Amino acid sequence: MALFTPTQEIADSFNEVDSWICDSVVPADSALEGVLKANAAASLDQIDVAPNQGRLLYLLAKMNRAKRVLEIGTLGGYSAIWLAKALPSDGHLVTLEVSPETAKVAESNIKNAGLSSIVDVKVGPALDTLAQMDKDPATGEFDLVFIDADKQNHHNYLQWAVKLGHVGTVIVLDNVVREGRVANPNDNTPSAIGVRKAFEVMKYDKRIESTAIQTVGSKGWDGFAVALVVSK
Ligand code: SAH
Ligand code: DHB
Ligand code: MG
Repeated sequence: MALFTPTQEIADSFNEVDSWICDSVVPADSALEGVLKANAAASLDQIDVAPNQGRLLYLLAKMNRAKRVLEIGTLGGYSAIWLAKALPSDGHLVTLEVSPETAKVAESNIKNAGLSSIVDVKVGPALDTLAQMDKDPATGEFDLVFIDADKQNHHNYLQWAVKLGHVGTVIVLDNVVREGRVANPNDNTPSAIGVRKAFEVMKYDKRIESTAIQTVGSKGWDGFAVALVVSK
C-alpha cells in the first residue's frame, strides 16, 4: 500500500479547516486552553486530542448519559477534562497514566479546571492498574472508555474495556490509522501490531459492534474507532 505524507501545503489546509471547524462549533474554553499552555510549559508532547475531537468525546459521553468514565492514557489531562465536563456533578472519571511526572501535570490541570472532585488519576502501567481495579469490589462498571495510551496494548485495553463495561458501554480508541501504517501489513512496529490486534478483537469479539473512521486535521492523518458493548 502506498503511504501518503501530507505536503506542507496540505497540512496547512488541514490546520486551517480544523481551526475553522473549532471556531464554528467548539465554544472557547479558557480552562481547556490553559491546559494546553501548562502542558507546553511542562514540555509534554503535543499529542492530546484536537479540540474538535475532545468535543466529540464530550458529546459521546453526553449521548450515552455517561456517569462513569475510564480513560487509559492521561498525558496532561486534556481529553480527561473534556470528558469530565460531560459528566453530572455525581459523575466519576478514572484516568490511568504510567508517568508520575506527567500525572502531576494532569492533576494540577484538573485542579485548575475545578474537576478534582470527580477525576481520579491513577499512576502506574495501565495493565497493572486495570488488574488491581478489577479485583477491587469498589470499582463499578464504566459507561464510556477512552483508550489512548501505548498503542502496542490497544487490543489488551479493548478487552479490559469490555470486561469493565456493561451492555451499552461506549468504547473509543484513538490513533487507529497512523498515516495509514496500521493497514500496511509490512509495518511491524509494536504500535501498528497492537492496533491491528485491536481490529481483530473488533472483528471477532461478538460482545461488541465496532467501526473506525479516518481523520485528517491538526493531528495529521489518523483515526478513531468506536465500539459498543452489545452483550456480555
Ligand atoms: N489522552 C490524552 C493523550 C494521551 S498520550 C489526551 O488526549 O489529552 C498517551 C499517554 O499514555 C502518555 O501520557 C503516556 O505516558 C501514557 N502511557 C504510555 N504507556 C502507558 C501505560 N503502559 N500505562 C499507562 N499510561 C501509559
Ligand atoms: C501520538 C499521537 C497520539 O494521539 C497518541 O495518543 C500517542 C502518540 C503521536 O503522534 O506520536
Ligand atoms: Mg492519542
